[in-house]
Amino acid sequence: MAIFPDAWLSELLSKSDLAAIASEYTLLKPKGKRLWGCCPFHSEKTPSFSVVPDEQFYYCFGCHAGGSVVQFVMDAEKLTYVEAIKYLAQRAGMELPDDVDDDRLRQERALKERLYAACKDAAMFYHAKLLSEEGKEAQKYLMGRNIDAATAAKFGLGYAPPGWDNLLKYMTEKGYSNEHLLAAGLIIQGKGRDKYYDAYRDRVMFPIVSTAKRVLGFGARTMGNDTPKYLNTGDTPIFNKRNNLYGLNLQRGKHLADIIIVEGYMDVISLYKAGVTNAVASLGTALTQQQARLIKRYVPKVYISYDGDSAGQNATLRGLDILAKEGLDVRVIVIPDNMDPDDYAKKFGGQEYLALKDKALTLNGFKLDSLMGGIDLGTPDGREEYAKKACALLARLEPVEQERYAPVIARRTGLSKEAILRQCGISGSPAGNSIGNSRNTKQQNRERLKSLNKAETALLCCMIKSGEALLCAMEEMARYGISFSDSAINAFAEGLLARSVTGEKLDIPLALSMLPQEAAESVSAAIGNEDTVIDPVTTAKDCVAAIAREAMDERIKELAAAMQTGGSDEEKREYMELVKKRASLK
Ligand code: CTP
Ligand code: MN
Repeated sequence: MAIFPDAWLSELLSKSDLAAIASEYTLLKPKGKRLWGCCPFHSEKTPSFSVVPDEQFYYCFGCHAGGSVVQFVMDAEKLTYVEAIKYLAQRAGMELPDDVDDDRLRQERALKERLYAACKDAAMFYHAKLLSEEGKEAQKYLMGRNIDAATAAKFGLGYAPPGWDNLLKYMTEKGYSNEHLLAAGLIIQGKGRDKYYDAYRDRVMFPIVSTAKRVLGFGARTMGNDTPKYLNTGDTPIFNKRNNLYGLNLQRGKHLADIIIVEGYMDVISLYKAGVTNAVASLGTALTQQQARLIKRYVPKVYISYDGDSAGQNATLRGLDILAKEGLDVRVIVIPDNMDPDDYAKKFGGQEYLALKDKALTLNGFKLDSLMGGIDLGTPDGREEYAKKACALLARLEPVEQERYAPVIARRTGLSKEAILRQCGISGSPAGNSIGNSRNTKQQNRERLKSLNKAETALLCCMIKSGEALLCAMEEMARYGISFSDSAINAFAEGLLARSVTGEKLDIPLALSMLPQEAAESVSAAIGNEDTVIDPVTTAKDCVAAIAREAMDERIKELAAAMQTGGSDEEKREYMELVKKRASLK
Protein backbone atom coordinates (compact mmCIF):
# COMPACT_ATOMS: atom_id res chain seq x y z
CA MET A 1 0.00 0.00 0.00
CA ALA A 2 2.96 2.24 -0.49
CA ILE A 3 1.18 5.07 -2.21
CA PHE A 4 3.04 7.86 -0.47
CA PRO A 5 6.84 8.10 -0.38
CA ASP A 6 8.39 6.82 2.85
CA ALA A 7 10.23 10.03 3.65
CA TRP A 8 7.13 12.13 3.21
CA LEU A 9 5.07 9.72 5.28
CA SER A 10 7.70 9.74 8.00
CA GLU A 11 7.56 13.50 8.18
CA LEU A 12 3.79 13.45 8.27
CA LEU A 13 3.79 10.94 11.12
CA SER A 14 6.31 12.95 13.09
CA LYS A 15 3.98 15.92 12.81
CA SER A 16 0.83 13.97 13.71
CA ASP A 17 0.78 13.38 17.43
CA LEU A 18 -1.47 10.44 18.22
CA ALA A 19 -1.96 11.45 21.83
CA ALA A 20 -3.16 14.91 20.80
CA ILE A 21 -5.48 13.58 18.14
CA ALA A 22 -6.90 10.81 20.35
CA SER A 23 -7.50 13.39 23.07
CA GLU A 24 -10.05 15.01 20.82
CA TYR A 25 -12.14 11.87 21.13
CA THR A 26 -11.56 10.78 24.69
CA LEU A 27 -10.08 12.11 27.89
CA LEU A 28 -6.61 10.59 28.36
CA LYS A 29 -4.76 10.32 31.66
CA PRO A 30 -1.17 9.15 32.09
CA LYS A 31 -0.38 5.98 34.03
CA GLY A 32 2.95 4.24 33.56
CA LYS A 33 4.29 4.67 30.06
CA ARG A 34 0.77 4.84 28.65
CA LEU A 35 -2.10 7.29 28.51
CA TRP A 36 -5.45 5.75 29.38
CA GLY A 37 -9.03 6.64 28.54
CA CYS A 38 -12.43 5.24 27.64
CA CYS A 39 -12.30 3.69 24.20
CA PRO A 40 -13.70 5.83 21.39
CA PHE A 41 -14.46 2.67 19.39
CA HIS A 42 -16.70 0.79 21.77
CA SER A 43 -18.84 1.91 24.65
CA GLU A 44 -17.38 1.37 28.10
CA LYS A 45 -17.34 2.97 31.51
CA THR A 46 -13.85 2.06 32.67
CA PRO A 47 -10.85 2.97 30.55
CA SER A 48 -9.28 0.15 28.56
CA PHE A 49 -8.05 2.27 25.69
CA SER A 50 -4.36 3.16 25.82
CA VAL A 51 -1.92 5.27 23.87
CA VAL A 52 1.83 4.76 24.06
CA PRO A 53 3.11 8.23 23.18
CA ASP A 54 6.73 7.15 22.83
CA GLU A 55 5.90 4.60 20.18
CA GLN A 56 2.92 6.42 18.71
CA PHE A 57 0.47 3.56 18.78
CA TYR A 58 -2.79 2.82 20.54
CA TYR A 59 -4.38 -0.36 21.71
CA CYS A 60 -7.71 -1.07 23.37
CA PHE A 61 -7.61 -4.02 25.74
CA GLY A 62 -11.40 -4.22 25.52
CA CYS A 63 -12.22 -4.25 21.80
CA HIS A 64 -8.67 -4.81 20.52
CA ALA A 65 -8.75 -1.80 18.25
CA GLY A 66 -5.19 -0.72 17.70
CA GLY A 67 -2.68 0.80 15.35
CA SER A 68 -0.93 4.00 14.50
CA VAL A 69 -2.36 7.47 14.19
CA VAL A 70 -3.40 6.54 10.64
CA GLN A 71 -5.59 3.64 11.72
CA PHE A 72 -6.95 5.80 14.51
CA VAL A 73 -8.12 8.45 12.11
CA MET A 74 -9.45 5.84 9.67
CA ASP A 75 -11.49 4.28 12.42
CA ALA A 76 -12.60 7.43 14.19
CA GLU A 77 -13.52 9.36 11.06
CA LYS A 78 -14.52 6.36 8.91
CA LEU A 79 -11.97 7.21 6.27
CA THR A 80 -10.06 5.09 3.80
CA TYR A 81 -6.31 4.90 4.09
CA VAL A 82 -5.69 7.57 1.50
CA GLU A 83 -8.35 9.85 2.93
CA ALA A 84 -6.84 9.49 6.38
CA ILE A 85 -3.41 10.44 5.10
CA LYS A 86 -4.88 13.46 3.35
CA TYR A 87 -6.73 14.43 6.51
CA LEU A 88 -3.55 14.22 8.57
CA ALA A 89 -1.57 16.14 5.95
CA GLN A 90 -4.11 18.91 6.09
CA ARG A 91 -3.92 19.04 9.89
CA ALA A 92 -0.16 19.10 9.78
CA GLY A 93 -0.15 21.77 7.09
CA MET A 94 1.76 19.57 4.68
CA GLU A 95 1.36 19.59 0.92
CA LEU A 96 0.47 16.26 -0.66
CA PRO A 97 3.46 14.80 -2.45
CA ASP A 98 2.26 15.44 -5.97
CA ASP A 99 5.59 14.94 -7.58
CA VAL A 100 6.45 11.57 -6.16
CA ASP A 101 9.68 10.50 -7.79
CA ASP A 102 8.56 6.92 -8.07
CA ASP A 103 7.43 6.75 -11.67
CA ARG A 104 5.52 3.53 -11.41
CA LEU A 105 3.49 4.72 -8.44
CA ARG A 106 2.75 7.99 -10.09
CA GLN A 107 1.57 6.23 -13.21
CA GLU A 108 -0.58 3.86 -11.21
CA ARG A 109 -2.22 6.72 -9.42
CA ALA A 110 -2.74 8.63 -12.63
CA LEU A 111 -4.33 5.59 -14.25
CA LYS A 112 -6.72 5.15 -11.34
CA GLU A 113 -7.68 8.81 -11.40
CA ARG A 114 -8.40 8.49 -15.11
CA LEU A 115 -10.59 5.43 -14.55
CA TYR A 116 -12.50 7.11 -11.72
CA ALA A 117 -13.14 10.05 -14.02
CA ALA A 118 -14.24 7.74 -16.85
CA CYS A 119 -16.71 5.90 -14.62
CA LYS A 120 -18.10 9.16 -13.32
CA ASP A 121 -18.54 10.56 -16.81
CA ALA A 122 -20.14 7.32 -17.93
CA ALA A 123 -22.53 7.40 -14.98
CA MET A 124 -23.53 10.95 -15.89
CA PHE A 125 -23.99 9.92 -19.51
CA TYR A 126 -26.25 7.02 -18.52
CA HIS A 127 -28.21 9.16 -16.10
CA ALA A 128 -28.82 11.85 -18.70
CA LYS A 129 -29.95 9.14 -21.13
CA LEU A 130 -32.44 7.87 -18.57
CA LEU A 131 -33.99 11.32 -18.29
CA SER A 132 -34.03 11.83 -22.05
CA GLU A 133 -36.49 10.77 -24.72
CA GLU A 134 -34.42 7.64 -25.36
CA GLY A 135 -34.89 6.63 -21.75
CA LYS A 136 -38.68 6.51 -21.80
CA GLU A 137 -38.84 2.70 -21.72
CA ALA A 138 -36.31 2.51 -18.91
CA GLN A 139 -38.24 5.14 -16.95
CA LYS A 140 -41.36 3.08 -17.40
CA TYR A 141 -39.50 -0.02 -16.30
CA LEU A 142 -38.30 1.69 -13.12
CA MET A 143 -41.72 3.11 -12.41
CA GLY A 144 -43.15 -0.38 -12.77
CA ARG A 145 -40.66 -1.41 -10.10
CA ASN A 146 -41.89 1.37 -7.85
CA ILE A 147 -38.79 3.56 -8.21
CA ASP A 148 -39.67 7.22 -8.52
CA ALA A 149 -37.51 9.91 -10.08
CA ALA A 150 -36.12 11.10 -6.73
CA THR A 151 -34.98 7.61 -5.78
CA ALA A 152 -33.48 7.07 -9.22
CA ALA A 153 -31.56 10.31 -8.78
CA LYS A 154 -30.44 9.39 -5.26
CA PHE A 155 -28.85 6.19 -6.57
CA GLY A 156 -27.67 7.81 -9.81
CA LEU A 157 -29.52 5.24 -11.88
CA GLY A 158 -29.16 5.43 -15.62
CA TYR A 159 -29.89 3.87 -18.95
CA ALA A 160 -27.43 2.51 -21.48
CA PRO A 161 -29.05 2.96 -24.89
CA PRO A 162 -29.09 0.19 -27.47
CA GLY A 163 -26.55 0.41 -30.30
CA TRP A 164 -22.92 -0.59 -30.30
CA ASP A 165 -20.99 2.57 -29.57
CA ASN A 166 -23.06 5.34 -27.97
CA LEU A 167 -20.89 5.57 -24.89
CA LEU A 168 -17.71 4.87 -26.82
CA LYS A 169 -18.32 7.83 -29.14
CA TYR A 170 -19.27 10.13 -26.30
CA MET A 171 -16.24 9.22 -24.22
CA THR A 172 -13.86 9.38 -27.18
CA GLU A 173 -15.05 12.88 -27.81
CA LYS A 174 -14.33 13.68 -24.19
CA GLY A 175 -10.77 12.56 -24.76
CA TYR A 176 -10.73 9.08 -23.20
CA SER A 177 -8.57 6.49 -24.90
CA ASN A 178 -9.87 3.04 -25.78
CA GLU A 179 -7.26 1.62 -23.48
CA HIS A 180 -8.66 3.47 -20.48
CA LEU A 181 -12.28 2.71 -21.34
CA LEU A 182 -11.34 -0.95 -21.67
CA ALA A 183 -9.53 -0.93 -18.34
CA ALA A 184 -12.57 0.61 -16.66
CA GLY A 185 -14.76 -2.14 -18.11
CA LEU A 186 -16.90 0.36 -20.02
CA ILE A 187 -16.18 -1.04 -23.47
CA ILE A 188 -15.17 -4.45 -24.71
CA GLN A 189 -12.92 -5.55 -27.52
CA GLY A 190 -14.43 -7.42 -30.42
CA LYS A 191 -12.79 -10.04 -32.63
CA GLY A 192 -10.97 -7.56 -34.85
CA ARG A 193 -7.94 -5.79 -33.48
CA ASP A 194 -9.46 -2.35 -33.53
CA LYS A 195 -13.06 -3.32 -32.89
CA TYR A 196 -14.47 -1.95 -29.69
CA TYR A 197 -18.04 -1.64 -28.51
CA ASP A 198 -20.04 -0.59 -25.46
CA ALA A 199 -20.03 -3.14 -22.66
CA TYR A 200 -23.60 -2.30 -21.65
CA ARG A 201 -26.38 -1.90 -24.16
CA ASP A 202 -30.09 -1.40 -23.62
CA ARG A 203 -29.86 -1.94 -19.89
CA VAL A 204 -30.79 -0.07 -16.72
CA MET A 205 -27.58 1.06 -15.06
CA PHE A 206 -26.77 0.92 -11.34
CA PRO A 207 -23.53 2.76 -10.57
CA ILE A 208 -21.48 1.23 -7.76
CA VAL A 209 -20.08 4.03 -5.64
CA SER A 210 -17.27 3.75 -3.10
CA THR A 211 -17.46 5.14 0.41
CA ALA A 212 -15.14 7.86 -0.87
CA LYS A 213 -17.95 8.71 -3.28
CA ARG A 214 -16.20 7.60 -6.44
CA VAL A 215 -17.99 5.63 -9.15
CA LEU A 216 -16.12 2.32 -9.41
CA GLY A 217 -18.25 0.27 -11.75
CA PHE A 218 -21.76 -0.73 -12.71
CA GLY A 219 -24.48 -3.28 -12.47
CA ALA A 220 -26.56 -3.38 -15.61
CA ARG A 221 -29.98 -5.00 -15.67
CA THR A 222 -31.84 -6.10 -18.72
CA MET A 223 -35.43 -4.88 -18.92
CA GLY A 224 -36.46 -8.04 -20.70
CA ASN A 225 -35.39 -11.64 -20.47
CA ASP A 226 -31.85 -11.30 -21.79
CA THR A 227 -29.27 -13.33 -20.01
CA PRO A 228 -27.53 -12.69 -17.83
CA LYS A 229 -30.11 -10.67 -15.96
CA TYR A 230 -27.36 -8.50 -14.53
CA LEU A 231 -24.04 -7.67 -16.13
CA ASN A 232 -21.50 -6.42 -13.62
CA THR A 233 -18.16 -4.72 -13.94
CA GLY A 234 -15.45 -7.33 -13.48
CA ASP A 235 -12.17 -6.75 -11.69
CA THR A 236 -10.55 -3.49 -12.75
CA PRO A 237 -7.72 -1.45 -11.22
CA ILE A 238 -10.35 0.48 -9.25
CA PHE A 239 -13.00 -2.16 -8.55
CA ASN A 240 -13.21 -5.60 -7.04
CA LYS A 241 -16.63 -6.76 -5.98
CA ARG A 242 -15.19 -8.73 -3.09
CA ASN A 243 -14.03 -5.51 -1.43
CA ASN A 244 -17.13 -3.41 -1.90
CA LEU A 245 -20.76 -3.28 -0.87
CA TYR A 246 -23.48 -1.67 -2.92
CA GLY A 247 -25.06 1.23 -1.04
CA LEU A 248 -22.38 1.57 1.62
CA ASN A 249 -21.58 5.03 0.28
CA LEU A 250 -24.95 6.20 1.60
CA GLN A 251 -24.15 5.01 5.12
CA ARG A 252 -21.19 7.29 5.67
CA GLY A 253 -21.49 9.96 8.31
CA LYS A 254 -24.62 8.40 9.78
CA HIS A 255 -24.78 7.22 13.35
CA LEU A 256 -26.08 3.76 12.74
CA ALA A 257 -27.08 1.07 15.18
CA ASP A 258 -26.97 -1.64 12.56
CA ILE A 259 -26.75 -2.43 8.87
CA ILE A 260 -28.92 -4.79 6.84
CA ILE A 261 -27.20 -6.95 4.23
CA VAL A 262 -29.31 -7.87 1.25
CA GLU A 263 -28.54 -9.73 -1.98
CA GLY A 264 -29.35 -7.31 -4.73
CA TYR A 265 -29.28 -3.80 -6.06
CA MET A 266 -33.06 -3.66 -6.15
CA ASP A 267 -33.37 -4.75 -2.53
CA VAL A 268 -31.23 -1.83 -1.39
CA ILE A 269 -33.13 0.68 -3.50
CA SER A 270 -36.58 -0.63 -2.76
CA LEU A 271 -35.95 -0.63 0.98
CA TYR A 272 -34.55 2.89 0.73
CA LYS A 273 -37.68 4.04 -1.04
CA ALA A 274 -39.72 2.43 1.75
CA GLY A 275 -37.81 4.39 4.38
CA VAL A 276 -35.37 1.64 5.38
CA THR A 277 -32.15 3.43 4.45
CA ASN A 278 -29.47 1.26 6.04
CA ALA A 279 -29.32 -1.67 3.62
CA VAL A 280 -26.27 -2.65 1.59
CA ALA A 281 -25.88 -5.45 -0.97
CA SER A 282 -23.08 -7.93 -1.28
CA LEU A 283 -23.02 -7.51 -5.07
CA GLY A 284 -24.17 -10.96 -6.01
CA THR A 285 -21.17 -12.74 -4.54
CA ALA A 286 -21.04 -14.88 -1.48
CA LEU A 287 -20.27 -12.48 1.34
CA THR A 288 -16.51 -12.08 1.80
CA GLN A 289 -14.34 -11.51 4.83
CA GLN A 290 -13.31 -8.14 3.40
CA GLN A 291 -16.94 -7.09 3.18
CA ALA A 292 -17.55 -8.22 6.76
CA ARG A 293 -14.60 -6.12 7.90
CA LEU A 294 -15.86 -3.15 5.97
CA ILE A 295 -19.18 -3.41 7.78
CA LYS A 296 -17.47 -3.76 11.10
CA ARG A 297 -15.95 -0.33 10.59
CA TYR A 298 -19.46 1.10 10.65
CA VAL A 299 -21.56 -0.95 13.04
CA PRO A 300 -21.27 -3.75 15.61
CA LYS A 301 -24.52 -5.40 14.54
CA VAL A 302 -25.77 -6.70 11.19
CA TYR A 303 -28.94 -8.24 9.89
CA ILE A 304 -28.80 -10.67 6.99
CA SER A 305 -31.85 -10.32 4.82
CA TYR A 306 -31.40 -12.59 1.84
CA ASP A 307 -34.00 -14.00 -0.48
CA GLY A 308 -36.45 -16.48 0.98
CA ASP A 309 -35.54 -19.11 -1.62
CA SER A 310 -33.23 -21.96 -0.79
CA ALA A 311 -30.25 -20.38 -2.57
CA GLY A 312 -30.76 -17.31 -0.42
CA GLN A 313 -31.04 -19.39 2.72
CA ASN A 314 -27.86 -21.29 1.97
CA ALA A 315 -26.07 -18.03 1.30
CA THR A 316 -27.40 -16.83 4.66
CA LEU A 317 -25.84 -19.79 6.43
CA ARG A 318 -22.45 -19.12 4.87
CA GLY A 319 -22.71 -15.37 5.45
CA LEU A 320 -23.57 -15.89 9.10
CA ASP A 321 -20.33 -17.62 9.84
CA ILE A 322 -18.23 -15.07 8.02
CA LEU A 323 -19.86 -12.18 9.86
CA ALA A 324 -19.77 -13.89 13.24
CA LYS A 325 -16.10 -14.69 12.74
CA GLU A 326 -15.37 -10.98 12.45
CA GLY A 327 -17.01 -10.49 15.82
CA LEU A 328 -20.21 -8.93 14.51
CA ASP A 329 -23.49 -9.49 16.31
CA VAL A 330 -25.54 -11.19 13.58
CA ARG A 331 -29.30 -11.60 13.16
CA VAL A 332 -31.33 -13.08 10.35
CA ILE A 333 -34.46 -11.53 8.93
CA VAL A 334 -36.68 -14.27 7.58
CA ILE A 335 -39.00 -13.24 4.79
CA PRO A 336 -41.98 -15.50 4.13
CA ASP A 337 -43.08 -17.07 0.86
CA ASN A 338 -39.81 -16.97 -1.07
CA MET A 339 -40.01 -13.20 -1.33
CA ASP A 340 -36.97 -10.98 -1.39
CA PRO A 341 -36.74 -7.68 0.55
CA ASP A 342 -37.67 -5.80 -2.61
CA ASP A 343 -40.87 -7.82 -3.09
CA TYR A 344 -41.76 -7.55 0.56
CA ALA A 345 -41.19 -3.82 0.92
CA LYS A 346 -43.08 -3.18 -2.28
CA LYS A 347 -46.04 -5.28 -1.21
CA PHE A 348 -46.29 -4.43 2.49
CA GLY A 349 -44.20 -1.28 3.01
CA GLY A 350 -41.23 -0.36 5.15
CA GLN A 351 -43.02 -0.59 8.50
CA GLU A 352 -43.97 -4.21 7.90
CA TYR A 353 -40.43 -4.98 6.86
CA LEU A 354 -39.15 -3.41 10.07
CA ALA A 355 -41.62 -5.60 11.95
CA LEU A 356 -39.88 -8.61 10.39
CA LYS A 357 -36.57 -7.10 11.42
CA ASP A 358 -37.80 -6.87 15.01
CA LYS A 359 -38.53 -10.58 14.89
CA ALA A 360 -35.13 -11.44 13.41
CA LEU A 361 -33.59 -14.72 14.53
CA THR A 362 -30.31 -15.09 16.30
CA LEU A 363 -27.55 -16.95 14.53
CA ASN A 364 -28.26 -20.22 16.30
CA GLY A 365 -32.01 -19.79 16.18
CA PHE A 366 -31.71 -19.55 12.43
CA LYS A 367 -29.44 -22.58 12.22
CA LEU A 368 -31.85 -24.66 14.30
CA ASP A 369 -34.64 -23.63 11.96
CA SER A 370 -32.72 -24.47 8.84
CA LEU A 371 -31.99 -27.96 10.13
CA MET A 372 -35.72 -28.66 9.67
CA GLY A 373 -35.29 -28.27 5.90
CA GLY A 374 -36.17 -31.49 4.09
CA ILE A 375 -37.32 -33.22 7.25
CA ASP A 376 -40.92 -34.26 7.81
CA LEU A 377 -41.63 -33.57 11.48
CA GLY A 378 -44.96 -35.30 11.04
CA THR A 379 -43.26 -38.71 11.18
CA PRO A 380 -41.45 -40.32 14.13
CA ASP A 381 -38.39 -40.89 11.91
CA GLY A 382 -38.36 -37.25 10.92
CA ARG A 383 -38.66 -36.08 14.52
CA GLU A 384 -35.84 -38.35 15.57
CA GLU A 385 -33.63 -37.18 12.73
CA TYR A 386 -34.28 -33.56 13.61
CA ALA A 387 -33.71 -34.18 17.31
CA LYS A 388 -30.31 -35.69 16.57
CA LYS A 389 -29.21 -32.94 14.24
CA ALA A 390 -30.51 -30.15 16.45
CA CYS A 391 -28.89 -31.65 19.55
CA ALA A 392 -25.56 -31.90 17.79
CA LEU A 393 -25.77 -28.15 17.29
CA LEU A 394 -27.17 -27.46 20.75
CA ALA A 395 -24.30 -29.36 22.35
CA ARG A 396 -21.87 -26.80 21.00
CA LEU A 397 -23.68 -23.77 22.43
CA GLU A 398 -23.23 -21.84 25.63
CA PRO A 399 -25.37 -22.98 28.58
CA VAL A 400 -27.65 -19.95 28.40
CA GLU A 401 -28.40 -20.64 24.77
CA GLN A 402 -28.96 -24.32 25.50
CA GLU A 403 -31.48 -23.29 28.12
CA ARG A 404 -33.20 -21.12 25.55
CA TYR A 405 -33.35 -23.58 22.68
CA ALA A 406 -33.82 -26.94 24.39
CA PRO A 407 -37.56 -26.27 24.93
CA VAL A 408 -37.88 -25.23 21.28
CA ILE A 409 -36.41 -28.51 20.08
CA ALA A 410 -38.50 -30.36 22.64
CA ARG A 411 -41.66 -28.77 21.29
CA ARG A 412 -40.77 -29.55 17.69
CA THR A 413 -39.97 -33.18 18.36
CA GLY A 414 -42.47 -33.96 21.12
CA LEU A 415 -39.58 -35.10 23.31
CA SER A 416 -39.00 -33.93 26.84
CA LYS A 417 -36.52 -31.19 27.53
CA GLU A 418 -34.59 -33.66 29.69
CA ALA A 419 -34.28 -36.10 26.80
CA ILE A 420 -32.97 -33.29 24.61
CA LEU A 421 -30.39 -32.29 27.17
CA ARG A 422 -29.34 -35.91 27.70
CA GLN A 423 -28.97 -36.36 23.95
CA CYS A 424 -26.62 -33.38 24.04
CA GLY A 425 -24.72 -35.01 26.87
CA ILE A 426 -25.84 -32.38 29.35
CA SER A 427 -27.20 -33.52 32.68
CA GLY A 428 -30.32 -31.90 34.07
CA SER A 429 -28.70 -30.59 37.23
CA PRO A 430 -26.20 -27.79 36.87
CA ALA A 431 -24.13 -29.22 39.70
CA GLY A 432 -23.84 -32.58 37.98
CA ASN A 433 -20.37 -33.63 36.93
CA SER A 434 -21.48 -35.34 33.75
CA ILE A 435 -20.96 -32.39 31.49
CA GLY A 436 -21.16 -33.94 28.06
CA ASN A 437 -18.32 -34.70 25.75
CA SER A 438 -19.56 -32.42 23.05
CA ARG A 439 -19.60 -29.47 25.37
CA ASN A 440 -16.05 -30.17 26.26
CA THR A 441 -15.19 -30.33 22.62
CA LYS A 442 -16.78 -26.96 22.12
CA GLN A 443 -14.79 -25.49 24.93
CA GLN A 444 -11.62 -27.14 23.72
CA ASN A 445 -12.31 -25.80 20.28
CA ARG A 446 -12.68 -22.33 21.56
CA GLU A 447 -9.56 -22.55 23.62
CA ARG A 448 -7.65 -24.04 20.75
CA LEU A 449 -8.70 -21.19 18.52
CA LYS A 450 -7.78 -18.66 21.11
CA SER A 451 -4.45 -20.27 21.78
CA LEU A 452 -3.65 -20.18 18.08
CA ASN A 453 -4.27 -16.47 17.93
CA LYS A 454 -2.36 -16.10 21.13
CA ALA A 455 0.51 -18.13 19.72
CA GLU A 456 0.66 -15.96 16.65
CA THR A 457 0.54 -12.75 18.65
CA ALA A 458 3.15 -13.99 21.08
CA LEU A 459 5.37 -15.09 18.20
CA LEU A 460 5.07 -11.72 16.55
CA CYS A 461 5.88 -10.07 19.84
CA CYS A 462 9.11 -12.12 20.15
CA MET A 463 10.03 -11.32 16.58
CA ILE A 464 9.66 -7.60 17.19
CA LYS A 465 11.53 -7.76 20.46
CA SER A 466 14.56 -9.74 19.42
CA GLY A 467 16.44 -10.04 16.16
CA GLU A 468 17.66 -13.48 17.13
CA ALA A 469 14.14 -14.72 17.84
CA LEU A 470 13.08 -13.25 14.50
CA LEU A 471 15.71 -15.17 12.54
CA CYS A 472 15.11 -18.36 14.42
CA ALA A 473 11.32 -18.14 14.03
CA MET A 474 11.48 -17.42 10.31
CA GLU A 475 13.75 -20.43 9.82
CA GLU A 476 11.50 -22.73 11.81
CA MET A 477 8.39 -21.46 10.04
CA ALA A 478 9.97 -22.12 6.65
CA ARG A 479 10.94 -25.60 7.84
CA TYR A 480 7.35 -26.41 8.82
CA GLY A 481 5.96 -24.65 5.77
CA ILE A 482 3.71 -22.45 7.87
CA SER A 483 2.97 -18.76 7.97
CA PHE A 484 0.85 -16.29 9.87
CA SER A 485 -2.83 -16.51 9.11
CA ASP A 486 -2.83 -12.88 8.00
CA SER A 487 -0.80 -12.28 4.85
CA ALA A 488 -0.12 -8.66 5.85
CA ILE A 489 1.57 -9.94 9.00
CA ASN A 490 3.76 -12.21 6.90
CA ALA A 491 4.80 -9.23 4.83
CA PHE A 492 5.42 -7.29 8.04
CA ALA A 493 7.61 -10.09 9.38
CA GLU A 494 9.56 -10.17 6.15
CA GLY A 495 10.03 -6.42 6.47
CA LEU A 496 11.39 -6.95 9.96
CA LEU A 497 13.77 -9.57 8.67
CA ALA A 498 14.97 -7.41 5.78
CA ARG A 499 15.82 -4.61 8.19
CA SER A 500 17.47 -6.80 10.73
CA VAL A 501 19.74 -8.22 8.04
CA THR A 502 20.96 -4.75 7.16
CA GLY A 503 21.20 -3.86 10.82
CA GLU A 504 18.51 -1.18 10.61
CA LYS A 505 15.86 -0.91 13.24
CA LEU A 506 12.30 -1.02 11.95
CA ASP A 507 10.45 2.26 12.24
CA ILE A 508 7.45 0.75 14.01
CA PRO A 509 5.05 3.69 13.68
CA LEU A 510 5.86 3.96 10.01
CA ALA A 511 5.45 0.24 9.42
CA LEU A 512 2.22 0.23 11.43
CA SER A 513 0.78 3.07 9.45
CA MET A 514 1.14 1.08 6.26
CA LEU A 515 -0.62 -2.04 7.51
CA PRO A 516 -4.27 -2.88 6.95
CA GLN A 517 -6.43 -2.33 10.02
CA GLU A 518 -6.57 -5.93 11.23
CA ALA A 519 -2.86 -6.46 10.86
CA ALA A 520 -2.11 -3.19 12.63
CA GLU A 521 -4.28 -4.39 15.49
CA SER A 522 -2.35 -7.65 15.73
CA VAL A 523 0.98 -5.86 15.71
CA SER A 524 -0.19 -3.36 18.31
CA ALA A 525 -1.38 -6.21 20.49
CA ALA A 526 2.01 -7.87 20.06
CA ILE A 527 3.90 -4.72 21.02
CA GLY A 528 1.53 -4.31 23.92
CA ASN A 529 2.68 -7.67 25.27
CA GLU A 530 6.39 -7.08 24.81
CA ASP A 531 7.04 -6.65 28.51
CA THR A 532 5.69 -10.10 29.31
CA VAL A 533 8.22 -12.03 27.21
CA ILE A 534 11.38 -12.92 29.08
CA ASP A 535 13.09 -15.38 26.76
CA PRO A 536 12.06 -14.42 23.23
CA VAL A 537 14.01 -17.16 21.43
CA THR A 538 12.55 -20.06 23.40
CA THR A 539 9.11 -18.52 23.39
CA ALA A 540 9.26 -18.00 19.63
CA LYS A 541 10.22 -21.66 19.08
CA ASP A 542 7.36 -22.84 21.28
CA CYS A 543 4.94 -20.61 19.42
CA VAL A 544 6.05 -21.85 16.01
CA ALA A 545 5.65 -25.44 17.18
CA ALA A 546 2.16 -24.68 18.49
CA ILE A 547 1.14 -23.07 15.22
CA ALA A 548 2.62 -25.96 13.25
CA ARG A 549 0.72 -28.52 15.35
CA GLU A 550 -2.47 -26.60 14.78
CA ALA A 551 -1.94 -26.44 11.03
CA MET A 552 -1.18 -30.17 10.90
CA ASP A 553 -4.25 -31.07 12.92
CA GLU A 554 -6.40 -29.06 10.54
CA ARG A 555 -4.90 -30.72 7.49
CA ILE A 556 -5.11 -34.18 9.04
CA LYS A 557 -8.79 -33.60 9.72
CA GLU A 558 -9.36 -32.50 6.12
CA LEU A 559 -7.51 -35.50 4.74
CA ALA A 560 -9.33 -37.88 7.05
CA ALA A 561 -12.62 -36.47 5.82
CA ALA A 562 -11.53 -36.78 2.21
CA MET A 563 -10.53 -40.39 2.78
CA GLN A 564 -13.93 -41.24 4.23
CA THR A 565 -15.32 -40.60 0.77
CA GLY A 566 -12.58 -42.41 -1.12
CA GLY A 567 -9.56 -40.16 -1.33
CA SER A 568 -6.69 -40.32 -3.79
CA ASP A 569 -3.40 -42.15 -3.31
CA GLU A 570 -1.74 -38.76 -3.02
CA GLU A 571 -4.06 -37.86 -0.13
CA LYS A 572 -3.43 -41.16 1.58
CA ARG A 573 0.32 -40.70 1.36
CA GLU A 574 0.11 -37.16 2.68
CA TYR A 575 -2.09 -38.37 5.51
CA MET A 576 0.35 -41.08 6.62
CA GLU A 577 3.31 -38.73 6.47
CA LEU A 578 1.51 -36.03 8.39
CA VAL A 579 0.35 -38.34 11.13
CA LYS A 580 3.93 -39.49 11.61
CA LYS A 581 5.28 -35.96 11.63
CA ARG A 582 2.57 -34.83 14.01
CA ALA A 583 3.38 -37.60 16.46
CA SER A 584 7.00 -36.45 16.57
CA LEU A 585 5.86 -32.96 17.57
CA LYS A 586 4.00 -34.01 20.71
N1 CTP B 1 -26.78 -11.01 -9.80
C1 CTP B 1 -25.81 -10.92 -10.77
N2 CTP B 1 -25.95 -11.55 -11.96
C2 CTP B 1 -27.06 -12.28 -12.22
C3 CTP B 1 -28.05 -12.40 -11.25
C4 CTP B 1 -27.89 -11.75 -10.05
O1 CTP B 1 -24.82 -10.25 -10.55
N3 CTP B 1 -27.17 -12.87 -13.39
C5 CTP B 1 -26.58 -10.31 -8.54
C6 CTP B 1 -27.10 -8.89 -8.60
O2 CTP B 1 -26.28 -8.09 -7.78
C7 CTP B 1 -28.47 -9.04 -8.03
C8 CTP B 1 -28.23 -10.07 -6.95
O3 CTP B 1 -27.26 -10.93 -7.49
O4 CTP B 1 -28.97 -7.82 -7.54
C9 CTP B 1 -29.44 -10.82 -6.52
O5 CTP B 1 -29.92 -11.61 -7.57
P1 CTP B 1 -31.47 -11.79 -7.82
O6 CTP B 1 -32.17 -12.10 -6.54
O7 CTP B 1 -31.65 -12.69 -8.98
O8 CTP B 1 -31.81 -10.37 -8.33
P2 CTP B 1 -32.75 -9.26 -7.76
O9 CTP B 1 -31.98 -8.25 -7.02
O10 CTP B 1 -33.94 -9.84 -7.11
O11 CTP B 1 -33.07 -8.63 -9.14
P3 CTP B 1 -34.42 -8.21 -9.73
O12 CTP B 1 -35.27 -7.87 -8.57
O13 CTP B 1 -33.99 -7.03 -10.54
O14 CTP B 1 -34.90 -9.34 -10.54
MN1 MN C 1 -33.74 -11.09 -5.44
